[in-house]
Amino acid sequence: MKNIYGALCCGLALLAFGCATAPESEAPAPAEAPETPEVQEVQEVQAAPNSKASVTTKFFAKNKLGQTVMQYTLKGAGGVVMDVINYGGKVVRLYLPDKNGESKDCTLGFNDVAGYETVDPYFGSIIGRYGNRIANGLFVIDGVTYRLPTNNEPGGIPCCLHGGAAGWDTKIWDAVPFQNGDTVGVVFTTTSPDGDQGFPGKVEAKVTYTLTPENVWRIEYEAVPDKKTPINLTQHVYFNFNGEAEGTILDHELTLCADKMTPVDAGLIPTGEITPVAGTPFDFTTPHKIGERVDTKGDKQLEYGNGYDHNFVLTNPSQNGELAQAAALYDAKSGRYMEVWTTEPGIQFYCGNFLTDKMVGKQGKPYQFRGGLALETQHYPDSPNQPNFPTTIVQPGQVYKTTTEYRFGTK
Ligand code: GLA
Repeated sequence: MKNIYGALCCGLALLAFGCATAPESEAPAPAEAPETPEVQEVQEVQAAPNSKASVTTKFFAKNKLGQTVMQYTLKGAGGVVMDVINYGGKVVRLYLPDKNGESKDCTLGFNDVAGYETVDPYFGSIIGRYGNRIANGLFVIDGVTYRLPTNNEPGGIPCCLHGGAAGWDTKIWDAVPFQNGDTVGVVFTTTSPDGDQGFPGKVEAKVTYTLTPENVWRIEYEAVPDKKTPINLTQHVYFNFNGEAEGTILDHELTLCADKMTPVDAGLIPTGEITPVAGTPFDFTTPHKIGERVDTKGDKQLEYGNGYDHNFVLTNPSQNGELAQAAALYDAKSGRYMEVWTTEPGIQFYCGNFLTDKMVGKQGKPYQFRGGLALETQHYPDSPNQPNFPTTIVQPGQVYKTTTEYRFGTK
């Protein structure tokens, strides 16, 4: 069964992504940042002669503390264009060509920092120190109990979510854009002090975004703590291949290369079990429309999540640092297609069940319930409290290193 499934997933990769060609057409110029008296000069950085790729830097906005947030536009030689900011490393806009070569912004986000500072469900953000939930905000290392302030309470049960109220998604990172021929990117670095959000140890972190001419967005995470501490970094980009604020993602077809998942309790905390997906609405080992089974009556897991909001356990996870396929996403209407490859053992599939029309997107249109989805590569939630999950504890001086790729195309 394992082998057949492995072959299926691989087959899909070759068939679908191998056939996807990068459309020739140019992506539209990204929307301008709102007018502000502080607008700084647009800078072309290290432009490579004869390359269609480029990186430009400009003022984005000020945050509520009056700090300057900069925007980096990565224009890929293959047609993908992304606007990222040094506030939380957020992907503000992501222009993906469709099967006719027409580009649309396919990620959820805001035009200003205020949106991110008020109702933000982690749109496009780097997540740290710990992706997803830690039960009660508590864990023990070497007999010492660490108490993290809780910032989330699904089902009325408090937990620490995504590294706490002032997690790495709220930091202004140091950012250095780069271009090597047709490859462009930004290196984000930051220092998280000892005790940041209750976590032990100072952590030096580096997250590199690279956009390749093949339309691959590679994310490389590195972190070095000076004390034993849990680290679990991810990216919380939301996709909607119909375009942002253009309906729901229920007609997107999803494949997850995962034959098991980690069920949760009413607080969305894993119970510690690792259960097979076969015969349940969680079986995405072959492509299924997200809307097909999301509201299956009587399924306790879907009830707890109000839809899909679960960690899936990869069937054939990465070996020796090689990337393994975790997921594929396809929208037949636009032809947009994506694969997710990672060195991580799990992936959180969240279908936007907390999104509401109180969140108004970049076109001034409200977002809808299930108007975007996230595929967050990660170690399993609450691992510091789950002895049978792969450990997330990093030793002092040890280099935490993971890589994830979102590979965009059409078919
Ligand atoms: C993750 C969680 C969800 C939700 C979102 C952010 O994906 O699993 O429950 O908290 O982040 O809104």
